[in-house]
Amino acid sequence: MNAWFVTGTDTEIGKSLCSAALLHAFAAQGKKVAGMKPIAAGAVWAGDHWHNDDVALITAASNVSIAPELVCPYLLHEPVAPHIAAAGEGIAFDLDHIAHSLEKIRGQSEITVVEGVGGFRVPLTDDKDTADLAVQLNLPVILVVGMRLGCISHSLLTVEAIQARGLRLVGWIANQIDPGMRHAAANLETLQTRIPAPLIGRIPYLVPADPRMAVEHLDLDLIT
Ligand SMILES: Nc1ncnc2c1ncn2[C@@H]1O[C@H](COP(=O)(O)OP(=O)(O)OP(=O)(O)O)[C@@H](O)[C@H]1O
Ligand SMILES: [Mg+2]
Repeated sequence: MNAWFVTGTDTEIGKSLCSAALLHAFAAQGKKVAGMKPIAAGAVWAGDHWHNDDVALITAASNVSIAPELVCPYLLHEPVAPHIAAAGEGIAFDLDHIAHSLEKIRGQSEITVVEGVGGFRVPLTDDKDTADLAVQLNLPVILVVGMRLGCISHSLLTVEAIQARGLRLVGWIANQIDPGMRHAAANLETLQTRIPAPLIGRIPYLVPADPRMAVEHLDLDLIT
């Protein structure tokens, strides 16, 4: 395996941090790595380009230079649900275009990490959602679980949805986004017994939340 689709239990649970950490980890092994954020919502004008935090984090973690329009084929301005932002900007997502962009990136790198959009079933078009995008890209899936109250049901629902699409869940990451989570260890144990894939990393609450600090907590051998 040399490319993965990173999804999560929700928005704002650490997909970007984990995607960037995976890229840094493979880069430390001497690999040519590149990330992709096919759809990003929320951009600010930075003087000469539109800046989005996820795209910037993924780009900073990549060690090959990929054209920005390949890294993020759809950069939307408003930080709202992508299909709503797209409608407002007169944009229609073309999943084929995303797939072609990914192929070009894979042609330039040895390792590619694609960060999904929000949770696993975020709508993209009238009849397609993020799960359809993962199917179209035909990538094994890594699930990032944002460790906080409620994450067990969110995780298991996401696992069911991944399986229902016939996708391969190859691993999951426990990302401690709530530093004060009660019984974190018991929650982790419950997830380990119920998620049918290896736990490839336990990322503690990080200050600062620098993806390079997460590298030592990942076990790449479990997904390669
Ligand atoms: N392990 C961690 N420790 C501390 N802060 C974290 C950790 N993981 C994520 N964060 C912080 O939580 C916020 C959300 O993380 P991140 O942007 O990676 O989420 P996401 O799932 O990619 O969100 P989106 O759905 O917007 O793409 C960020 O401010 C990030 O720095
Ligand atoms: Mg993100």
